[in-house]
Amino acid sequence: MKKLFVLLALCVVSTNVVAQNKPMKEFVDELMSKMTLKEKLGQLNLLPAGNITTGAAQNNPIVHQIKDGELGGVFNIKGLDEIRTLQEMAIKKSRLGIPLLVGMDVIHGYETIFPVPLALACSWNLEGIENSARVAALEASAEGVNWTYSPMVDISRDARWGRIVEGAGEDPYLGSLIAKAMVKGYQGDYSLPSNIMACVKHFALYGASEAGRDYNTVDMSRLRMYNEYFAPYKAAVEVGVGSVMTSFNLVDGIPATANAWLVNDVLRKQWGFDGFVVTDYASIHEMTTHGVGDLATSSARALRAGTDMDMVAKGFIGTLEQSLANGQVSMADINQACRRVLEAKYKLGLFKDPYKYVRVKNRNQYVYTAANRKAARDLAAETFVLLKNENQVLPLKKQGKIALIGPLANDRTNLCGTWCVAMAPERYSTLKESMERALKGKAELLYAQGCNIASDDALQKAGEQGKNIMRVDDAQAKAEALAVAAQADVIIAAMGEAAEFSGESHSRVNLELPDVQMALLKELVATGKPVVLLNFSGRPTILNWEKAHVPAILNVWFGGSEAGDAICDVVFGDKNPCGKLTTSFPQHVGQIPLYYNHFNTGRPVADGADRFFSYQSNYLDVRNDPLYPFGYGLSYTTYQYGELKLDSKTMSPDGQITVTIPVTNTGNRDGIEVVQLYIRDVVGSIARPVKELKGFQRLSLKAGETATATFTIDASKLKFYNYDLKEVVEPGEFDVMVGPNSRDLKRATITVQ
Ligand code: BGC
Repeated sequence: MKKLFVLLALCVVSTNVVAQNKPMKEFVDELMSKMTLKEKLGQLNLLPAGNITTGAAQNNPIVHQIKDGELGGVFNIKGLDEIRTLQEMAIKKSRLGIPLLVGMDVIHGYETIFPVPLALACSWNLEGIENSARVAALEASAEGVNWTYSPMVDISRDARWGRIVEGAGEDPYLGSLIAKAMVKGYQGDYSLPSNIMACVKHFALYGASEAGRDYNTVDMSRLRMYNEYFAPYKAAVEVGVGSVMTSFNLVDGIPATANAWLVNDVLRKQWGFDGFVVTDYASIHEMTTHGVGDLATSSARALRAGTDMDMVAKGFIGTLEQSLANGQVSMADINQACRRVLEAKYKLGLFKDPYKYVRVKNRNQYVYTAANRKAARDLAAETFVLLKNENQVLPLKKQGKIALIGPLANDRTNLCGTWCVAMAPERYSTLKESMERALKGKAELLYAQGCNIASDDALQKAGEQGKNIMRVDDAQAKAEALAVAAQADVIIAAMGEAAEFSGESHSRVNLELPDVQMALLKELVATGKPVVLLNFSGRPTILNWEKAHVPAILNVWFGGSEAGDAICDVVFGDKNPCGKLTTSFPQHVGQIPLYYNHFNTGRPVADGADRFFSYQSNYLDVRNDPLYPFGYGLSYTTYQYGELKLDSKTMSPDGQITVTIPVTNTGNRDGIEVVQLYIRDVVGSIARPVKELKGFQRLSLKAGETATATFTIDASKLKFYNYDLKEVVEPGEFDVMVGPNSRDLKRATITVQ
């Protein structure tokens, strides 16, 4: 009797659960044939979940929408039980039992946090970056998340823009490789329970917001789009990214979300994207403030442009029924969007097993494990960029008295940087704690906070966003710090930006070390003791005074949950720094936008010119060069580049040339050197950049060892979009340049016949 009851109960549950037992098209056809218009629009609706503790769940409006089939997905909710509760509602309580997409901004890790994306790029370690995405997916999927809003691949040449921290920097080639690596890391081939769907964003051109002010207008030539800004999005599509998020900005005068040329023509028709497109947060609503129509008009325009899912604005669920009735959209438009969202769920295997992502019993087997933490720590060490190391101050010996001073030295939340929705700071070490461990029994660590992040309380608060750093009396804190410094043999200054000085909406125009920190740093340097500056930043900052006066500068970005240990690994020489910049560091904010792959003017000044030239393209009061160029980064060892050789000086457009260069580790430590290949198309039907990165190799070199970096030049490295937006290789001369950064290069010339 009891058995029969259980069987009956199962049958009741399974009647409204659709099973994924047919090929995708057939399956989705059949499911859609059962759906009402409202249920179809429901699939296009995406909302943040809010508070879903089991008790509160019943009162949460989301729950009713799920039961009524009016929600396709939820996002940014952490907690397996909460997510399971919602998923069960969708499966058991909605008429058709369609599972939810569960999204999250898993941007650089879940609970094990990796360095911020701009830092990750500086490792140039594609395998490591792919693995960071895999680890993030492993952790997030174990707690119910099946969709991440990453990778963010917006090229940016503007250090003022707060979101420069979320991307790979200024280069399309490197950015494309990183985009591919991350998509592969998250999605795999969807066959593992830990594969989650990626969402490449923000399509498109978001990183070119005017004046570096977030959400601002973008107005760009199509040539620049195709040759420079589009590449990383396209790369993500090439490796099968499951979803694309539109950007907030205008593209050609139309908000990206409703730009049919961008979404339907470029993304789908030209690039063959077959996944679904989601808006950014409330983008459809924001179209009304852009001034292109009310919510109904904006929703209809977005749908017709090829956007499938509405994040937060409730425009699709709220207005499309009416727009269908009055002919603003067609049933075919709605069906198309609904199909694409259902296909995503099918690809994730959610119809086969709707509980696929909420089955884990013991989170500790997956989340913040020793292996994950080791991966984050090792990769973090590779992201640090050694900008200066006079008299080999670094690495420091673990001996004597070491003073650790600065507002970032003993903080637990800021080292992760921006966008850590699932962070668990109580599990992370501060830099001071890591250093105490590293030095135990060997050296004495002295500590003082020394100052605030900035004297302006309001600025500091805005840049902390709740990741609060203890507020101190600056004068008193400085006196304490100087007393500590007086006792020390060497001083480590942990200074820079707070975590949220960069990130969404957090643009800045003053990129120098904030006032009270700079004042303290100057006094620390004036002690005459060796000073190491650890510069925490989510963007290129301006380091003129530091470059001139501080003996050693290590740019440590925001290194994630294991940053403290990773910094110790490098500062004390257990690891040798190998990071190289992927954004130019300006001398002055007035140089922005500043990027290495610029065009020539008709009146260029020579690279490195150290004075002003009248009637040439330069400034009266600052030189053109960056303070530190793209690709730059030192090591504890030194490298010597030998003769650049080509196996031929000519090639046909479908041929290839092999370029080799021997590189010797001339110091006494093992290291990794990122050897970079740049190409210039000397004469083109349109002007071409002075150089473009087209290859790199990370050479692992033992002390004294020589290895050869080898690059193949073929059409893929020479082609570009011409005036008609056709990809071409134009015959003629090309400069081939190889070296340790974008400035110090050896050159040869080839001819394409
Ligand atoms: C951001 C996106 C993010 C989304 C969801 C928006 O404000 O621009 O990058 O994925 O919020 O949290």
